[in-house]
Amino acid sequence: MNFEGQTVIITGGSRGIGHGIVKAFAQRGAFVHFTYTKENADMLNFLAEAKQNGLNVFAHKVDSTNETLIEKFIEGFDTIDILVNNAGIVSDQLIPLMDVEVWNKVIDVNLNGCFYYLKHVSRKMLEKRKGNIINITSVSALKGVKGQGNYSASKAGIIALTRTLSMELAAKNIRVNAIAPGYIETDMLDTIDPAVKKEYLKSIPLRRFGKVEDVCNLVLFLASDLSGYITGQCIVIDGGLSVQ
Ligand SMILES: NC(=O)c1ccc[n+]([C@@H]2O[C@H](COP(=O)([O-])OP(=O)(O)OC[C@H]3O[C@@H](n4cnc5c(N)ncnc54)[C@H](OP(=O)(O)O)[C@@H]3O)[C@@H](O)[C@H]2O)c1
Repeated sequence: MNFEGQTVIITGGSRGIGHGIVKAFAQRGAFVHFTYTKENADMLNFLAEAKQNGLNVFAHKVDSTNETLIEKFIEGFDTIDILVNNAGIVSDQLIPLMDVEVWNKVIDVNLNGCFYYLKHVSRKMLEKRKGNIINITSVSALKGVKGQGNYSASKAGIIALTRTLSMELAAKNIRVNAIAPGYIETDMLDTIDPAVKKEYLKSIPLRRFGKVEDVCNLVLFLASDLSGYITGQCIVIDGGLSVQ
């Protein structure tokens, strides 16, 4: 798959799944712009290496909760071909015990942040009558997971936004889809208690956690013309977890 010369924006590209998506597009010729909030050593090493290897990767410190900053960031582009809304956080608490701050923080980064990008990037794409948007949600939006009321609600909201925007943009040659990963090996998964993680593993029919590359392959497919007749969908990638 080739994305030569295409401009791709990926939110939360400094670590984990987002970092994998940054690499996947950069290695396929795209101009990749990713956002982050905190610099980390791996990210800085990657940027230096990418420069040496002639890859077009650019990092932008843009917090997903700051609409003003996002609007300014997006205004700087002439054309945006692909948006991957990936930035996300977890902060688990059981609903009866959940602090309103914890609820608001997760909704703000995951759901409001996604909305801000959808709003401003879709305006750009409408000018060019062309574009492709992929939102990263979660199987937590589709099944009950104890402690994830805030996270699940934010991710279910992203699926609703995906469906709505896909209908608003379909006639303008812009596709909008979502990906719902199960448990993928990243820092986010590492926040889970090892004993609980062991239980999770047992519940996955394919008997392994997903790899970042598994998700990247699906992102590339949805971003390419191979998926040209797919819009408004949420595609689950979870080793069978949500089927049983
Ligand atoms: N890992 C899983 O098992 C799994 C499963 C289902 C869905 N997902 C979803 O997949 C996406 C990526 O998850 P991950 O596991 O790769 O997470 P991760 O390793 O924790 O990485 C999260 C990324 O989001 C960025 N981010 C966080 N808050 C941000 C903010 N306010 N503004 C801009 N960037 C921000 C982080 O950058 P900084 O560090 O610079 O803040 C980082 O690059 C998330 O939406 C997550 O909900 C993950």
